[in-house]
Amino acid sequence: MARINLSVDGSNVSDDVEPRMLLVHYLREKLGKTGTVVGCDTSNCGACTVHLDGRSVKSCNVLAVQADGHEVTTIEGLSDTVDGDLHPVQEAFRECHGLQCGFCTPGMIMQSVDLLNDNPDPTEEEVRLGLEGNLCRCTGYHNIVKSVLHAAKSSSGEGANA
Ligand code: FES
Ligand code: FES
Repeated sequence: MARINLSVDGSNVSDDVEPRMLLVHYLREKLGKTGTVVGCDTSNCGACTVHLDGRSVKSCNVLAVQADGHEVTTIEGLSDTVDGDLHPVQEAFRECHGLQCGFCTPGMIMQSVDLLNDNPDPTEEEVRLGLEGNLCRCTGYHNIVKSVLHAAKSSSGEGANA
């Protein structure tokens, strides 16, 4: 077992984990953060995307021990970054119907927040490129892209910053 100390959604956590445990499994199974989901076993789908020190990562591609000493934000903590209200990107997905079954949504939103932090005023093509690592099995890409563009417009870049 390895000792890890990290922050998850604003709370400090100390734990002993198997060195081979994936971050996504740690979040779901040990912390009950089931908003972060597993959609594949090939690092392709992006459904497991979280932020590690503010940057999006596929948490099925990161070991829990690699998060030692770092700050993890999941979809469940995203609203805390804007004082408990829905994050502007969450609000935009709600408003523009950017989800169908919702399975890809946590990852799409976490990736979109990172994308908008880097580029607060993206073109449609830039949004599509920025989300290329996230798959939607319902193929709802049109409204997902629309949601991200809406978030960028409604917050003029500023509100999209986590
Ligand atoms: S579960 Fe991580 S990329 Fe699919
Ligand atoms: S909304 Fe169903 S997988 Fe994207």
